[in-house]
Amino acid sequence: MIGSTLTSVCCVMVAVLAAAACLDVPKVRLSSGGDIPIVGLGTRQANYEGELETALDAALQSGYRHIDTATIHKNEHTIGKVLNKWFKEGKIKREDLFVTTKLPVYGMRPADVPVFLNQSLTKLQLDYVDLYLIHMPFAVKREAHDNGIITEDSIDKTTDHLAIWKAMEAEHYAGRAKALGVSNFNETQIERLLKHGAIPPANLQIELHLYHQQRPVVDFCKKNGVSVTAYAPLGSPSYRWLSPISGKELPDLLELTEVNKIATKHNKTSAQILLRHTVQRGIIVIPKSFKPDRIRQNIDILDFTLDDSEMAELDALDKGLDGKRFVMKHIEGLWKHPEYPWTALLNSTEERPKSSN
Ligand SMILES: NC(=O)c1ccc[n+]([C@@H]2O[C@H](COP(=O)([O-])OP(=O)(O)OC[C@H]3O[C@@H](n4cnc5c(N)ncnc54)[C@H](OP(=O)(O)O)[C@@H]3O)[C@@H](O)[C@H]2O)c1
Repeated sequence: MIGSTLTSVCCVMVAVLAAAACLDVPKVRLSSGGDIPIVGLGTRQANYEGELETALDAALQSGYRHIDTATIHKNEHTIGKVLNKWFKEGKIKREDLFVTTKLPVYGMRPADVPVFLNQSLTKLQLDYVDLYLIHMPFAVKREAHDNGIITEDSIDKTTDHLAIWKAMEAEHYAGRAKALGVSNFNETQIERLLKHGAIPPANLQIELHLYHQQRPVVDFCKKNGVSVTAYAPLGSPSYRWLSPISGKELPDLLELTEVNKIATKHNKTSAQILLRHTVQRGIIVIPKSFKPDRIRQNIDILDFTLDDSEMAELDALDKGLDGKRFVMKHIEGLWKHPEYPWTALLNSTEERPKSSN
């Protein structure tokens, strides 16, 4: 297992380097078969429908073939509309695209899985998704979400990951999800699926950026053949209201002197250096931008390499857990859910987590 993992990591690195010559976006091999492009477009938080349409057109024109969405983004219909237009115009084929979507936190019962996946497929106008992820390891009751009021009483503590995973596997066997994975799961939770599931998770999507490089979990995933996707790869600058769990504010990653210096040397932007650093570790990135020039910039990271000293300088900026920002504490009492994944990171002597997220 370790040998094959090392081989696949080496393949990623070779492919990343090869891309400099042919400008194809390198791909990471999934344990389920198939490949995921190492750069994808994050699509969260459009201000209006046309904004995302323009962004998707710009992304597809710039060579993106990997789109990341989620039921909770409420934008799958727009993605479906744009993809369908590109298919009809004969500009792309379905098999050239990689589309990820996610089971929502309010759909965390086994019977919900086919319901929510079918809704996603209808909106996306697709027969299958390339990757279906469980978005969060915890759950809220569906009626609470439908009412739009989520309180501590809305939390569904009956969550059974193995039963949900079995329902996910049924969707894979039915051909509606080519690969299966999880998001925001911790090692214990992934290990349970690896041990007891019929199909191992092919991908883990987690918060990962220069301040929170997630080295232990990335090593764990590499050992177990689970590919890793970095969300918030630029540090999610539009979510500044999410403080790091340490409570200590950190400078914006895009403004860091160390990053700017390396960017100037390579005639690249700070964003490109942040993305390249993660991609060069063999990790998939899904930066979100709705600005066409930034969308082009964020995939234009394949024609240069950071040398060992630059990688080491950037590695050293890792703040570990102090760099983590996404712990979903805005849902009152959520941390009491038995599958809340970050309890160990929070101050167990206090009744509530310290972070204001
Ligand atoms: N699985 C999960 O639980 C989860 C959680 C969070 C996010 N995600 C996924 O990950 C994606 C990315 O995460 P994110 O949006 O939180 O953070 P991000 O990609 O780190 O940052 C996005 C922000 O950076 C700006 N930006 C993008 N490219 C830039 C560039 N080249 N220069 C300067 N600023 C730039 C964007 O603004 P403009 O749009 O104005 O360019 C936006 O405000 C999301 O869209 C979503 O698909 C998943």
